[in-house]
Amino acid sequence: MKKIALGNTHLSVSMLGLGTVKFGRNQQVNYPQAFALPSNKEIIELLACAQDLGINLLDTAPAYGSSEERLGPLLKGQRHHWVLATKFGEEFVHGASQFDFSKEAAQKSIERSLKRLGTDYLDIILVHSNGEDKKIIEEQGVFSTLNEFKQAGLIRAFGMSTKTIEGGLMAVEQSDIVMVTHNPLHSAEQAVIAHAHKHNKGIFIKKAFASGHLQKISGVDPVLEAMRFIYQEPGVSSIIVGTLNPEHLKHNVACANQLME
Ligand SMILES: NC(=O)c1ccc[n+]([C@@H]2O[C@H](COP(=O)([O-])OP(=O)(O)OC[C@H]3O[C@@H](n4cnc5c(N)ncnc54)[C@H](OP(=O)(O)O)[C@@H]3O)[C@@H](O)[C@H]2O)c1
Repeated sequence: MKKIALGNTHLSVSMLGLGTVKFGRNQQVNYPQAFALPSNKEIIELLACAQDLGINLLDTAPAYGSSEERLGPLLKGQRHHWVLATKFGEEFVHGASQFDFSKEAAQKSIERSLKRLGTDYLDIILVHSNGEDKKIIEEQGVFSTLNEFKQAGLIRAFGMSTKTIEGGLMAVEQSDIVMVTHNPLHSAEQAVIAHAHKHNKGIFIKKAFASGHLQKISGVDPVLEAMRFIYQEPGVSSIIVGTLNPEHLKHNVACANQLME
């Protein structure tokens, strides 16, 4: 799996990353089918499979239920292999999302992520937007807060998972990495990817397969088509795909590798 420099950070990431929502949360999610949370054994096998296939990027969040808590012990002894991305701002409590983008919340959340993930530094922290991107950036001062954590050495890079074009453009200018939705059914945020390319900033793609609704994407192999559509954008750093199925993971890597030949 090809690795590339993540914007102007010093991080190098595989062009396919592993999303971990499904490791810890199966309520209030948009996947086509209900699913049981995986066992520790299944997660260990998926992580080993991802590592064997050359994936070095893991994306988690406090809002992904028990994802962070479960990953920590299972990553013991292999911290050096992974670029760990987590988030702050959203919490999933008793089946509902709660948001707090204050400096105090950032501090508490980052300290808890470090503890849960069993590490003394996080590679990436993204602001987990509730959709009010501009307001969060302008009124909460999230990027200057995160910059303080970066200067203190607790995080290597920071950015935002955005939901609006305006917010995405602002995040490109004021942070290191922006996570946007981009797939053949949703290309409205392409301008953010182009802006990041121009400014040499990192771009992560979420919901590349429309959260698993692959039947809505045309083509003989919708996985290949979705990836072809996404990688044609020169600003894309890595596609973060979530899966619990090692065969799906292998197929996703095969498609990505085919497109990079
Ligand atoms: N920051 C945010 O606001 C935000 C929001 C959403 C997601 N994300 C991040 O982005 C990641 C991906 O987003 P997502 O999970 O919503 O959507 P996605 O990657 O578009 O789709 C994941 C779904 O696709 C299925 N899938 C994966 N590979 C497949 C294959 N080869 N064939 C058939 N089905 C396949 C998975 O099911 P199987 O388990 O059956 O493979 C899973 O249900 C998340 O895990 C998370 O890390 C971030």
